Amino acid sequence: MTSQATRMPRHLLSMADLDAAGIRTILDTATQMHDVQKREVKKIPTLRGRTIINLFFEDSTRTRSSFEIAGKWMSADTINITGKGSSASKGESLRDTVRTIDAMGVDALVMRHGASGAAHQVAQWVDAHVINAGDGTHEHPTQALLDAYTMERRLGSLEGKRVAIVGDLTHSRVVRSNLISLRRLGADVTLVAPPTLMPSGISGWAERDGFALSNDLDHVLQATGSTKPIDALMMLRVQKERMSGGFFPTAREYTVGYGLTRDRLTRLTDANPEIVICHPGPMNRGLEISADAADAAQSLILDQVSAGVAVRMSVLYHLLAGEDSPTEAAATSEGSAA
Ligand code: NCD
Repeated sequence: MTSQATRMPRHLLSMADLDAAGIRTILDTATQMHDVQKREVKKIPTLRGRTIINLFFEDSTRTRSSFEIAGKWMSADTINITGKGSSASKGESLRDTVRTIDAMGVDALVMRHGASGAAHQVAQWVDAHVINAGDGTHEHPTQALLDAYTMERRLGSLEGKRVAIVGDLTHSRVVRSNLISLRRLGADVTLVAPPTLMPSGISGWAERDGFALSNDLDHVLQATGSTKPIDALMMLRVQKERMSGGFFPTAREYTVGYGLTRDRLTRLTDANPEIVICHPGPMNRGLEISADAADAAQSLILDQVSAGVAVRMSVLYHLLAGEDSPTEAAATSEGSAA
């Protein structure tokens, strides 16, 4: 295996593994990878001969398929394993499962697991590079990278941009990774949730890392006096599958307090027509986001999906291919099907 580019960690387990320069490198390469996505023949030889296993113990549409597409477009051999279809369903331990896969000589393990910290643990057991594709309520670093990439493409540098992240913060791994990357990129971040969906201990983190917290969405969205309007609004899914009790009285009340309704959308776009709306998906239409907002001209939700492939190509490239130039690899194969 070739040596890795400077600043790149061996594994991508948390957004904290990348400093601002590392994030910038990934996003810059993603721009080049995005060009591959626009070609008729989407194939570059960058990861020829490498094997990537997608090991998913939780359901996924976007993340799993975009990692698979990313690997395939870079000529790697990609294999998908799900919890249900593997020996994990026969009672095999996670350690035995990943060590078995690792023993086959794979280069990367992209994994999603319901337990927070699972990817960190697995990284200690295997020789392969481990990429965290979501671990419980902990982190989802490639989602944060694709979110930053998508917002930057529309807004330019995120330095000083006002970003509000709204919704089920308690159960969201997306918000944890986004907080790290957005702060490293210089954005001014406010988290908004009902008190019951504010993670415990978040105020200490907010103080340390310099972001704001609020339970009042309309107040945050209001541009008054010296407060400039929100540049980007990220809505998070209400994660019913992770809720064991009642976190809010009724769905209707949640929407009234914290949903991006048609009425809020109108107020926001009146204050700032350039505002962008993001959502990592899958969406609960009508609960945290109205159909009008999801399909509005300001919505970047499908751009996020598209960026997911380019950003994951970039991450795989930087972790696995190291010093070889992605552009040269791309240029030599331009127009040829590998
Ligand atoms: C997110 C996830 O799985 O953490 N979705 C995704 O990866 N696109 C967010 C969610 O499930 O709500």
